[in-house]
Amino acid sequence: MLVDNHKRIHDYLRISLTDSCNFRCQYCMPDENIQCLPNKHLMQVDEIEKIATTFVNLGVNKIRLTGGEPLVRKEFREILARLSKLPVEISLTTNAVLVHKFIDDFKAAGIRAVNVSLDTLNAETFKRITKRDQFDLVWRNIQLLLKEGFRVKINAVAIEGVIEKEILDFVEITRDLPLHVRMIEFMPFEGNHWNSKKVITATQMLKWAKAEYDMVKLKDKPHATAKKYKAIGHEGTFAFITTMTEHFCGDCNRMRITADGKMKNCLFGKDEMDLLGTLRKGEDIEPFIRLSVLQKHAVMGGQFNKSYKDTETTQLENRSMIRIGG
Ligand code: GTP
Ligand code: 5AD
Ligand code: SF4
Repeated sequence: MLVDNHKRIHDYLRISLTDSCNFRCQYCMPDENIQCLPNKHLMQVDEIEKIATTFVNLGVNKIRLTGGEPLVRKEFREILARLSKLPVEISLTTNAVLVHKFIDDFKAAGIRAVNVSLDTLNAETFKRITKRDQFDLVWRNIQLLLKEGFRVKINAVAIEGVIEKEILDFVEITRDLPLHVRMIEFMPFEGNHWNSKKVITATQMLKWAKAEYDMVKLKDKPHATAKKYKAIGHEGTFAFITTMTEHFCGDCNRMRITADGKMKNCLFGKDEMDLLGTLRKGEDIEPFIRLSVLQKHAVMGGQFNKSYKDTETTQLENRSMIRIGG
């Protein structure tokens, strides 16, 4: 079992499969012409399998595949097939644009839930955010996932000046569809032009929602990132990921591996443990995993000591979101 110095059991691993993406959202990918890692620097299929197996032997029971966009990794099918043999729940976070090509692979691998990143319900705004004209395809793929029985969460990053007018539309789509929308407070990462004024707080969003809908609070699952609500009578739910205004680190069970095989014990931690390098030297990675967990800070990687309002991005040391994996 992996337990840190704050008595938190770590049993959820997020593995990034690639640092490339077929979209170009600025809050995630700072530079449109970003140089992606050459394939030889990425964890290869066997290496992903070995690293994941070591974590599973240490008590991990849930693995989430992330990116960049995980479905653009050319060995995605092979990776999924290998990981699906492990005794863990597997899920993924995707922009959904390639979902129709992989839906049978998801089923074969026993995936039951898919999280879709979708920040707007407006095709024009979608084009502006992602620099791609693919809202219709993404929306069709969300419907396809629902039709095929997957549990679907929608991740929408709430950025001031971009989507505040759409909050009610996001509540509205939960009326007849069993979608689980999560509005995410905008978080700072390298190069993403974050500043505190661009954060729309969950409190604000809830106020807007309550003005139009009867919102009830639902019970949150242990380790949940989101605080869940429901508009009475709606099929789906509406939740907030409140990293900036109310962190949820006390209950954290998450670890991350970047596409180049570095372990991050926290989304905001600057320390990285080179698991891939260690594996390639023929050494045992287990002690390094344990050490990384023991070095984990209590809150937000030890990098946010002040209110988000006083945080300056220049003081934060971290990768860009696309190179972490979310
Ligand atoms: P579920 O397993 O379905 O609950 O998904 P998840 O929320 O763990 O993962 P997802 O990839 O859908 O991420 C949704 C949002 O939560 C993203 O903005 C992530 O960056 C953020 N998030 C995920 N894990 C953490 C975490 O450990 N800490 C913080 N602060 N945010 C996180
Ligand atoms: N702030 C908050 N959430 C973000 N995501 C990507 N960048 C940011 C950011 N700067 C979310 C995406 C994706 C998830 C893995 O992380 O919506 O669904
Ligand atoms: Fe865990 Fe770090 Fe996220 Fe807090 S910020 S919940 S410690 S990963």
